[in-house]
Amino acid sequence: MTKQDSSIKYMGYLDRVRVDDETLTIEGWVASQGAGRATGLHLDAAVSGKTCRLIEQVLHLPSPDVRAAYPALDDSDRCRFLLRVTLPEGLPSPMRDLLLSVELSFAQGREEGSAVMVAPSLPDTPPAPITFISSTSTASVTGPGNELAAQNPDVIDDMIPDYSVASYVGDTGAELFKVVGRLMLDWFKTYCDLKPEESVLEVGCGIGRIAIPLTQYLTTGRYEGFDIVRHGIEWCQQKVTPRYPNFNFFLADVYNKHYQPDGKQAAADYTFPFEDGTFDFVFLTSVFTHMMPKDVEHYTAEIGRVLKPGGRCFCTIYSISEEARRQLTSGSSRMAFKVFPEGYWSDTPNNPEAAIAYPEEYLTDLFMQCGLETTQVIPGKWWKNEFAQDILISRKFQRMP
Ligand SMILES: C[S@@+](CC[C@H](N)C(=O)[O-])C[C@H]1O[C@@H](n2cnc3c(N)ncnc32)[C@H](O)[C@@H]1O
Repeated sequence: MTKQDSSIKYMGYLDRVRVDDETLTIEGWVASQGAGRATGLHLDAAVSGKTCRLIEQVLHLPSPDVRAAYPALDDSDRCRFLLRVTLPEGLPSPMRDLLLSVELSFAQGREEGSAVMVAPSLPDTPPAPITFISSTSTASVTGPGNELAAQNPDVIDDMIPDYSVASYVGDTGAELFKVVGRLMLDWFKTYCDLKPEESVLEVGCGIGRIAIPLTQYLTTGRYEGFDIVRHGIEWCQQKVTPRYPNFNFFLADVYNKHYQPDGKQAAADYTFPFEDGTFDFVFLTSVFTHMMPKDVEHYTAEIGRVLKPGGRCFCTIYSISEEARRQLTSGSSRMAFKVFPEGYWSDTPNNPEAAIAYPEEYLTDLFMQCGLETTQVIPGKWWKNEFAQDILISRKFQRMP
């Protein structure tokens, strides 16, 4: 979290951000240049402006490391803080837990502007503190390898497509297009221990929403992304690959009723063009939520094939869990999924590929059959917020059981 304002200058860093159910805990530091010590931090939900209720705020914790790095900042030897707030219910944003604005009070003034903060969970070991960024930028989700973006947001901005050609990957608005990518990257690091030198495959990469921020992290690694929508792939080939030759994008001429009705090949017949055991990490965000059962089954087998033993997969889904079933049957879900004879659930009977959910045990069994052990399912509570998909994390067996 950093910001420079015309009146008060300050620096800060989020060492840890945790979202536990409805509570957000942030540990970090903040220090001003000339406005005295911080006297208060206030968070609001950035999208709706709804207020987060403060549970605990501890300021002025010892920070000898900050003093060593930034001796000129006010009170830099006691500028660490811990903040715990409740997150308001029912925010319209897909990042309802995670996109917050910060207001800071200092001894000699209040910071009026709100720096937008992306707050999933951050790496345990902080990288070098980031420098000021403009008040209109979202604060970077920082982590090792990501300093370049923090120092120069233009690097990212130059690759971001106009939302009018990008909305097909998520109807969330232009601002969140950027945020989602950074958020996913942070989750890859947190939940899947993604390393900058690893080889990565993205299935259904759209128009680079996640690949773009990933360019700042996957420094010595390799990225391959494919999708079935031509213009997204062409955008990435033109905007990303020339700057980052270790990022390659290609088109698969595959049918999908919702995204590519002219596609020649059935997804269930499409072989990923890679040798067995090529990748350390495969991810799909909001792709199996648009694919029919036979296609999902075949793609999962392909993921299992191209992953190295021990390789990880991060996949967002609409999972029909016990809780989801309760929400659906009580009529309190925002998504009106209904079960179909083939076993999938959809709220758009004439075009199921617009949004498909699967029973959680069907997916975990399928992954298991394909050599992928589910290590974690992180509920997104999509019945409250249709953009918050569940996350299924799996690992390829070292040897088939
Ligand atoms: C909601 S978008 C998400 C895009 C991207 N994963 C992201 O998060 O920005 C769904 C994507 O899945 C792609 N898709 C659908 N069926 C596919 C298939 N069989 N193979 C690869 N991509 C597919 C669509 O073209 C679309 O880009």
